[in-house]
Amino acid sequence: MKLEDFSFRLGNKELKPLIIGGMGVNISTREMALEAARLGGIGHISDAMLPSVCDKILGTNFTSKKAKAQRIYMNSIDKSQDVISSEMLREAALLYTRPIMEQKKGDGLVFVNCMEKLTMNDPLRTLKARLNALMDAGIDGITLGAGLHMASLSLMEDNPRFRDVKIGIMVSSVRALKLFLRRATKHNRMPDYVIVEGPLAGGHLGFGMDWANYSLMPIFKEVKEFLANEGHPDIPVIAAGGIFTGSDAVEFMKAGAAAVQVATRFTVAQESGLPHDVKQAYFNAKPEDIEVNTISTTGYPMRMLKYSPAIGSAVRPNCETYGYLLEEGKCSYLTAWLDAAGGTFDGPTPKCVQSKTCLCTQMRNFKVWTCGAKASRLHETSVRGSDGLWVEPSTEHIFNDYMKSENGEIAVPSLKDQAVPA
Ligand SMILES: Cc1cc2nc3c(=O)[nH]c(=O)nc-3n(C[C@H](O)[C@H](O)[C@H](O)COP(=O)(O)O)c2cc1C
Repeated sequence: MKLEDFSFRLGNKELKPLIIGGMGVNISTREMALEAARLGGIGHISDAMLPSVCDKILGTNFTSKKAKAQRIYMNSIDKSQDVISSEMLREAALLYTRPIMEQKKGDGLVFVNCMEKLTMNDPLRTLKARLNALMDAGIDGITLGAGLHMASLSLMEDNPRFRDVKIGIMVSSVRALKLFLRRATKHNRMPDYVIVEGPLAGGHLGFGMDWANYSLMPIFKEVKEFLANEGHPDIPVIAAGGIFTGSDAVEFMKAGAAAVQVATRFTVAQESGLPHDVKQAYFNAKPEDIEVNTISTTGYPMRMLKYSPAIGSAVRPNCETYGYLLEEGKCSYLTAWLDAAGGTFDGPTPKCVQSKTCLCTQMRNFKVWTCGAKASRLHETSVRGSDGLWVEPSTEHIFNDYMKSENGEIAVPSLKDQAVPA
């Protein structure tokens, strides 16, 4: 059987059962999400650091405006006044998302991945601004990730689109889903889908450093069983994390998945936002090059290539410019950096900060090379040119390979598919 033998019914929509997961910051680009939608599946953009993404690709100046306004706190170790305005978040979300929804073609959908952990010193106000702007911009669906999202439904419920936009929650355990469903019941608004992300995924993990003791299939089955017992057997459950081939996907479809969500295969796509040289590093990754560490300031473990330039970097904290991870004036990188710098911004810059990374700066600059556990198989998905460089397959190629592959096979692109100079 092939993935194309299945379909994904979401409300009144019939979709291809393949979802490209959100990859922040702007790794799952709007071009990639639009391709997934054109091909009949679902593509995610990410709303992480959208003001900065807009500056880069639309030429706005949100970041410098914020930095200018916050300059007075540059040398202060108290960052509690470092905030980002709701208007700026809203403007960036509208500017970025509206044209995507206008350009969308085909039978598929474009969703956004919204990470709760981007706390910005005022979690509820900023999350409310983000979620509502995304709905107002016409996004088809919102996947709530990186957090329990206990308040998200109440932050959205006054929006006229609250009952029409698709809302999904990403969980790694029944326990997390239980908590969310209690809130959903209160709002009489069940999630339209549940994504179960296992421990082999890329990005942040919903597990501790004991992630290796878990595996996706049993958790997926537990979630299915729990929903059925709670009287919600019809909520689509989507499996994510380590699904590398169409055959891996079929295994989950046979176990009752409504669809699968994948990401790592698409990090090296032509439409991926990663720089070309970083995609080559992903292609060349070996199993021993991939680690799960705790350098992320979100508090969640994160999987990445162990030679990611962000690891050990002592870049000056950039809270005035970004500040997406501040919580009550604090960020664990700020603390680690200040420890290394003798507790002040006035002295020399430390040479190395090992325990944490400035996630804002490093994600924005593509220096955290996060990937799923199967990234060491990316070399199986392409061919090398005479210059030794790997060909970047198109999003369409990878999408179709997932849909059509059998027996664990992977169709590689041909050399003439190289559309971009590496
Ligand atoms: C490069 C990369 C960046 C990611 N960024 C995010 C993110 O910003 N938010 C999120 O919820 N998940 C993120 N993820 C997780 C994916 O959306 C997806 O659920 C998961 O990686 C699927 O597993 P796979 O990569 O093994 O296919 C990221 C994954 C990768 C590979």
